[in-house]
Amino acid sequence: MMATGSPTTDALDTSSASSNGASRFALGVLIANLVVIVWGGFVRATGSGAGCGSHWPLCNGEVIPQARSVALLIELSHRVTSGLVVLLGVALVVACCRSFAAGHPARAASWWALGMVGVEALIGGFIVLARLVAMDPSASHGVAVGLHLVSTFLLLSALGTTVVCTRRSLGVEALVFRGTSRGLRIAALLPLASLLVVGSMGAINALGDTLYKVDSIAAGIALDRADAAPLFVRLRIWHPVLATIAVIVIFVCPPIVEKLRPSPLAQMASRAALTFALVQWTLGLVNLGLLAPIPVQMLHLFTADLLWLSLTLVAVAAFATPKTAPSAR
Ligand code: HEM
Repeated sequence: MMATGSPTTDALDTSSASSNGASRFALGVLIANLVVIVWGGFVRATGSGAGCGSHWPLCNGEVIPQARSVALLIELSHRVTSGLVVLLGVALVVACCRSFAAGHPARAASWWALGMVGVEALIGGFIVLARLVAMDPSASHGVAVGLHLVSTFLLLSALGTTVVCTRRSLGVEALVFRGTSRGLRIAALLPLASLLVVGSMGAINALGDTLYKVDSIAAGIALDRADAAPLFVRLRIWHPVLATIAVIVIFVCPPIVEKLRPSPLAQMASRAALTFALVQWTLGLVNLGLLAPIPVQMLHLFTADLLWLSLTLVAVAAFATPKTAPSAR
């Protein structure tokens, strides 16, 4: 549906039916991306990243690969589903541009999401072509998984923001950063910054666990203490330490946003963030205690995504402004 161009606030959305449709579609695209992301964790955890050889975008250089192996099927399914979410990203931009007038944040957020889906695909392609996959123990592989995690988080932020901005009942008609107080900015952005660090260290840990499997906690501690311990093993103590600090930051900051910018969105997102932070911290201990079995790894990755999404929504609530308001606090 086309924009009406009426000057009233409501007219920013061309019709309630089409924006509701866009909102449902945005939620569907977000869920599809979450599935692909967690499946990407499975590719890494099973060491299947080289299942298609060092070819990209084709698998083993063939449109329909002839050779079959479990690793190939796991990697190929990740590539096919990643391709599908790129198409969904394009459809999301079309849906938002048809349902919301120029200047509405839903449009900008959907373009941002499409850009990040593209970045994800390019990073995926780069790590395959550079052979930074499977059991490669190089430091570059660690940097690549860290960067991949950061771009995944930014993609989720873009999709989460699109979902919220397309939902008319939440009244997010503009996101205004300028003019907001320093306290509000710190409370909204510090938890996100901490989670970027914790998440990338976690991704490096996950790679270390895939590369250097141990069969008991004692063997893991012995490996950590060994003089010649590999880099990924030496780094792994930092993930739980930084995660604990991040959980404290999360318990302090979102409630401040809720207080400074009270709204149903701020309340819902802040409570979700506190809950996911606790669940995620506990899952981290379970992961460690059980020597990171694949299902727990995937659950830990999924909960990290939910925690990141809820913190994104806290930030959106902090900077959300109705179009009619003169300025943000
Ligand atoms: C705010 C809390 C936490 C967040 C956001 C977080 C996030 C993450 C992320 C994103 C990964 C990478 C997952 C993957 O790529 O598959 C990871 C891995 C890991 N984390 Fe955490 N984590 C948190 C707390 C903890 C704690 C407290 C521990 C242990 C005491 C822990 C232990 C681990 C272990 C052992 C791995 C590697 C195995 C795996 O892939 O799951 N985490 N974490």
